[in-house]
Amino acid sequence: MNFKKEVALGIPKELPNKKNYDPSVNHAPIRENVLTREEKILALRNALRYFDKKFHEELIPEFKSELEKFGRIYMHRFRPDYKMYARPIEDYPHNSKEAAGIMLMIQNNLDKKVAQHPHELITYGGNGAVFQNWAQYLLTMKYLSEMTDEQTLVMYSGHPMGLFPSSNNAPRVVVTNGMVIPNYSKKSDLEKFNALGVSQYGQMTAGSYMYIGPQGIVHGTTITVLNAFRKINKNPKGKIFLTSGLGGMSGAQPKAGNISECITICAEVNIKAIKTRHSQNWVDEVIDDTEKLVERVRTAQKNKEIVSIAYHGNIVDVWESFYENNITVDIGSDQTSLHNPWSGGYYPVGYSFEEANKLIYENPKKFKSEVKSSLKRHVEIVNKHVKRGTYFFDYGNAFLLEASKAEADILKKDGSFKYPSYVQDIMGPMCFDYGFGPFRWVCSSCKQEDLDTTDTIACEVLEKLALNAPEDTKQQMMDNIQWIKAAKKNELVVGSKARILYADSNGRIEIAKAFNKAIREGKIGPIILGRDHHDVSGTDSPYRETSNIYDGSQFTADMAIQNVIGDSFRGATWVSIHNGGGVGWGEVINGGFGMLIDGSERSEINIESMLFWDVNNGIARRNWARNKGAIDQISRAMQKNPKLKVTLPNLVDDKLLENI
Ligand SMILES: NC(=O)c1ccc[n+]([C@@H]2O[C@H](COP(=O)([O-])OP(=O)(O)OC[C@H]3O[C@@H](n4cnc5c(N)ncnc54)[C@H](O)[C@@H]3O)[C@@H](O)[C@H]2O)c1
Repeated sequence: MNFKKEVALGIPKELPNKKNYDPSVNHAPIRENVLTREEKILALRNALRYFDKKFHEELIPEFKSELEKFGRIYMHRFRPDYKMYARPIEDYPHNSKEAAGIMLMIQNNLDKKVAQHPHELITYGGNGAVFQNWAQYLLTMKYLSEMTDEQTLVMYSGHPMGLFPSSNNAPRVVVTNGMVIPNYSKKSDLEKFNALGVSQYGQMTAGSYMYIGPQGIVHGTTITVLNAFRKINKNPKGKIFLTSGLGGMSGAQPKAGNISECITICAEVNIKAIKTRHSQNWVDEVIDDTEKLVERVRTAQKNKEIVSIAYHGNIVDVWESFYENNITVDIGSDQTSLHNPWSGGYYPVGYSFEEANKLIYENPKKFKSEVKSSLKRHVEIVNKHVKRGTYFFDYGNAFLLEASKAEADILKKDGSFKYPSYVQDIMGPMCFDYGFGPFRWVCSSCKQEDLDTTDTIACEVLEKLALNAPEDTKQQMMDNIQWIKAAKKNELVVGSKARILYADSNGRIEIAKAFNKAIREGKIGPIILGRDHHDVSGTDSPYRETSNIYDGSQFTADMAIQNVIGDSFRGATWVSIHNGGGVGWGEVINGGFGMLIDGSERSEINIESMLFWDVNNGIARRNWARNKGAIDQISRAMQKNPKLKVTLPNLVDDKLLENI
């Protein structure tokens, strides 16, 4: 059967052959078996809902075995035989071009070159799911293949509830992931709901079909490193950035360090992770001896080299040996997976990788106490470096939180953390408050020429805007002009022909309008616009995206919810809203969108209306929280657009509150 026919068929009428477990593919970790006997029966009953009664008897033992073996029912038998990758938009069976664009993005998120655990439908982060099982995938693709522009597909945590009549201007798909009643948002609740097949963790761009591979994280990390050097008024040339982790996201650090032109030292205990990044040319050199490392770093400093070095071993050892050898670390951070400290997210100093893994298994209590001691030692040595002038920041990995739980010397007298998070100090005040965030686009033709043309267009637009940009935003534009010029050379495109850059409201709108014009003139095919959820308005996350909100509202989620509602009636092709993402289930509400533009007048209207809201909603909120940059930026936006009227805060004189 050809691809179009197979997609349009949905769940096959006859049972396909069983699929073997493919060891050549990276598989998801086995999930804990959390269900009682009754709940297991409920999970089976839930899974069987997707299939004709006549197959139930055969499927029950198979699904039961998956549940017992993997902790989840993935329905491996139903994984399609065709190759999974983003095809040119016209290759999808469709009655709605917008729906075809969504199919392209779904397949990209499940492409084995892009996805972390493709057979378990996990795109990234270990648990960032597109669907819970293959039946959901098949049914969703069928619905998308038949829907018209007068219908909306409703997605409940991977499950396609169905097509509902709507209108041409409504989103084609509305996605919710992991939404639960707030009192049932503990990690154990998620495990249970997910095992029952009624909820899933969509991470950020995974569950909203907007993941584009490692390019996004390299770009975001580059912006962070560049701005961190700016924060301390140092030219990166010959200066040191010391950090750890060469895993999924952390692995972007050396590549970003090279693009930022500093010397990066990144410690990693797992040799496999080092080999992967080294083979991808994301890190230049590998050293496994601290003496040799010190020597190499001295040479790099002397020659002002642009170089990234992976140290095979524990990060604490590097901090300590650099201190003893008087090596000044200019910027320090950490990207071990401390959001997950007890099962291998953070390896304690004094143990090899293998020894530590054994300890997790054999004596989890001892492992826990070793992690805590290691964190204390880690903080102690970072504190010493900071006294010598290092600028240290938390990289959104819960380093400060876990160190404080381990009773390390990480708190100030008033109980707050000694060090800022990267959003508090860098991304928040320098980017998000001004509306700069991770705008991205995908060329639906899947042609390299289209990507090249869009790179040129985006660069021209930014160069033009930079000429008259206010001083406080010019630098961000210049960084992104430099990025887009080198983007092709950096070879970060994996899967669909996609590009990312940071732009503000005006930048995003002008770039999108220029694309729309190029589509109208036949220079490129339709474009899918989107963004990461790690952005100005889409995400309420008190320890990350909204950690530089200081009016007490960082624990509210009105902004993210308002954002997705607002996007949905201003022209988004699809919208999504998730519980969890990055920092964990129950810790964040985040949303995103996708918008297919086709050169039409309608696309032009949607671009202006939706992108404007999607950025300025967050700036308005950040302004109300009294963030200086956001007050200035929203005031400028109001001057440009008289239809925008935002409530500005009155700032009270601190002296009046001193003796209250
Ligand atoms: N890059 C970003 O922009 C960003 C943003 C927010 C959060 N984060 C956070 O950063 C963390 C890392 O993410 P990831 O996807 O790379 O995780 P990951 O688990 O894939 O990688 C972490 C790596 O750290 C290594 N490691 C652990 N302890 C170590 C130690 N003591 N010394 C040296 N190496 C050690 C592990 O072997 C692992 O390879 C997560 O907590 C994530 O949420 C990253």
